[in-house]
Amino acid sequence: MLKKKIKTNRNAIKPMWTDLYNIKTAKSQKLEKPKAFIEPDSQNKIIKLVKKFSGIKQKTLTECIASRRSLRSYSEKAMSFEELSYLLWETSRVDHMKDDRAYKTIPTAGATNSGETYIYANNVEEVDNGVYLYVQNKHELALINQTENISNDINQAILRQLRDASVVFFFTAVAPRVEYKYDFVGPKLIAIEAGHSCQNLSLAAEVIDAGACAIAAYNQEKVDDLLKIDGEDHFTVYCATVGKK
Ligand SMILES: Cc1cc2nc3c(=O)[nH]c(=O)nc-3n(C[C@H](O)[C@H](O)[C@H](O)COP(=O)(O)O)c2cc1C
Repeated sequence: MLKKKIKTNRNAIKPMWTDLYNIKTAKSQKLEKPKAFIEPDSQNKIIKLVKKFSGIKQKTLTECIASRRSLRSYSEKAMSFEELSYLLWETSRVDHMKDDRAYKTIPTAGATNSGETYIYANNVEEVDNGVYLYVQNKHELALINQTENISNDINQAILRQLRDASVVFFFTAVAPRVEYKYDFVGPKLIAIEAGHSCQNLSLAAEVIDAGACAIAAYNQEKVDDLLKIDGEDHFTVYCATVGKK
């Protein structure tokens, strides 16, 4: 017999899907639907990213899959603005809207789009160091946090794994978006979506001769605080460092 605690932990990723048919979800009760993505405050400094990538030499998917390995040691070379734009474009953008549903470069459960992406720019040309929200429907960055000690704070929050990465990606989830339709299945779907984002990032990094390292080992409270998210309805799920080879 499995210990009760282990069983409870595992149950989060093996919910009985058909039980959904017997409960009153927020959607079935016609409650207000959560917004599909965050739109930053008008006071936030906004950086418009580029959408044309003429400086990036494309590789085949087979090449990217073959060369992908977790990279934890990076060159001191800064990432270019175009390269950062490219990583966000392939990983996190809303491709199009249909009715009020957001369709992204990654699959999201029932197009509920639980995810947001934040970055910490540590060594990117033309971008001041700081934490930014990626505005996924506009392909822009909105400045969120830029204190003097930000580099050290981020490093501590990701348990000293910053090393000399150019960028850290933070994949967060706004749980009510997916719970609205899928209720108790939400945690499983959130984790899978974050995995999709990080996989796109790992492969896109290969295109720009960079490498990524997925990070699940981080301090939940510290990262959520630095991103200025509440840690309850909206929390970090997965991170990744990225830097040039
Ligand atoms: C869910 C998940 C969490 C991970 N968390 C970390 C982490 O916190 N720190 C780290 O250095 N590597 C982390 N990794 C990277 C793995 O250690 C790495 O993928 C594994 O050693 C296999 O190496 P490869 O990616 O080069 O194939 C994580 C990978 C996954 C899939």
